Amino acid sequence: MCGIVGYVGKRPAQDVLISGLRRLEYRGYDSAGIATLDSEDKPHLARSVGKIAELEKVLALKPHTGTLGIGHTRWATHGGVTVNNAHPHNVGDVFLVHNGIIENFRGLKAALKDVEFKSDTDTEVLAALINSKYDEKTSLKDAVAKALKEVRGTYGIVAFSPREPETLVVARLGSPLIIGLGEDETLIASDASALLGYTRNAIYLNDGELAVCNKEGAKVYNLDLKPIASTPEEIQGELEQIQKGGYDHFLLKEIMEQGTALKNTLSGRVDAKNGTMRLGGLNLTPKELKNLRHLVIVGCGTAYYAGLLASYYFEKLVPDLTTEVVIASEYRYRSFHLPENSAALIISQSGETADTLACLREIKRRGAKVLGIVNVIGSTIAREVDGGTYVYAGPEISVASTKAFTAQVTTMLIFAGMLAESHGGNMDTVRQLASELVALPENIEKTLKAYEKDMKKLAEKYAKYDNALYLGRDTAYPLALEGALKLKEVSYVHAEAYAAGELKHGPIALVDDRFFELVDVLDGPLFEKTLGGLQEVRARGGHTIVLTDSKKDIDCDDIVRIDTDAKLTVPLLLNTLQQLFAYYVAVARGNDVDQPRNLAKSVTVE
Ligand code: F6R
Repeated sequence: MCGIVGYVGKRPAQDVLISGLRRLEYRGYDSAGIATLDSEDKPHLARSVGKIAELEKVLALKPHTGTLGIGHTRWATHGGVTVNNAHPHNVGDVFLVHNGIIENFRGLKAALKDVEFKSDTDTEVLAALINSKYDEKTSLKDAVAKALKEVRGTYGIVAFSPREPETLVVARLGSPLIIGLGEDETLIASDASALLGYTRNAIYLNDGELAVCNKEGAKVYNLDLKPIASTPEEIQGELEQIQKGGYDHFLLKEIMEQGTALKNTLSGRVDAKNGTMRLGGLNLTPKELKNLRHLVIVGCGTAYYAGLLASYYFEKLVPDLTTEVVIASEYRYRSFHLPENSAALIISQSGETADTLACLREIKRRGAKVLGIVNVIGSTIAREVDGGTYVYAGPEISVASTKAFTAQVTTMLIFAGMLAESHGGNMDTVRQLASELVALPENIEKTLKAYEKDMKKLAEKYAKYDNALYLGRDTAYPLALEGALKLKEVSYVHAEAYAAGELKHGPIALVDDRFFELVDVLDGPLFEKTLGGLQEVRARGGHTIVLTDSKKDIDCDDIVRIDTDAKLTVPLLLNTLQQLFAYYVAVARGNDVDQPRNLAKSVTVE
């Protein structure tokens, strides 16, 4: 979603802001802008619609000088995609960038009668509100604090004024901001990746905090302007992880590097010899682990599907545990009941998804333990859970989630193994899972390498179809859902997914020769039943692709058989093929695969 960068220091602000905004491009945006102060404290504003390259064209005509400034990539919420609606906004002496939504902006706007608004945005109203408090006797810090007390909604903001030319004022409520502390320079960003290469020393601002930054550092306050002690933390991650490293797209890079990502996910957690699994950081006593009876898994989109896939394993491995998987945007408003000895697993790549965060807070309020399965280190969800663990997939830049899904499922499988052990589950199965997990990084690497060309060829053959139906049974059902989501996100092909047994209950009416069906067929007890659905589709003119680990005969148009001894982890192997398929269909259709239309990487608004 929107991105924020701020800078005060010794370097040309324009360069730092543009390079920071480029690092945040992956989050999705439709306009961009920067505002800076020159050496005579004169403000300059440049904004444009479209990609950052457009903003650079504007800046090439009139480059900005000076060493203080703010920048923003906007994803339209209030008002269309226009230059006037792009950030930064300026009212009077106040220049402002803002992520989040000011819910009461209409009321505030009506009360600001003397202001001639130039945009349709809630952010301009906030800038005007701050400006209305910013009289000669008031500092920008005081004006921001006063204004924020009148605001309802969420915000991450950075403001400056030519009247205080060495200062940036920063505040957050529900939208992340990180303050990077460099040598004679301070950077602000909504995402740590914009700070890499400048500093590793950072303050993660908490909700309800405001900070005054200059090149010497930052002072943090609450909204009553009482100083708050803040301890800088180390930013994790490497610059190479946010670069394409020779691949055409981040999406392909992230698919192909899943073996490496998983090595980090598994590191020190699984002992194949003894069949033991451990996750640090859960903050659960052995008694709490043993007494757990009800697990609710919460997520959105791909994270939800990761939870759905994992739930089959929790059920298989852990006797006396009921598992429920819920969509965060629904669950947060339902009158749900959590029985005694419940815990929630909060699944999120970004750790910032608004609906998922709202569920976390609601479940916590009701007294159940909330455990995070999160990728982004230091993110809001990671900070608010009672315990939890990182999946260590590394930065995921492409909007469509791939390696995070694999790492999320793997982490939950480790948790399922731990629970099975403490709940008296079948230890033979746990040992098998442990040895498959240890082999998984290599198996994924081998699968990707062996079948990439096949998937590319298949994708090129089927790229002309506008409709797809994904089918699967048992663990292949969540797989089908995830495969269809990936395809629709990046290729814009209409893709639906069903449990194969549901076919006769409605979706088969769709099937004709304008559809292709992708069927995930697992070699197991439901093999024959899955084939039944496949034949019904073929009989009605559908074009069928099968992805399978089975060596048996299957009547279909196209088939990719993976060669593996794995049993329990086969769905994760087949999923990598679906990811490649979606990627190559999107490439064949000429789409912007890393930043698909209308999508944002981290959905921080409801
Ligand atoms: C799909 C995708 C989304 C996210 C969803 C949750 O490829 O990326 O469906 O999975 O928006 O995001 P996180 O995991 O950041 O909470």
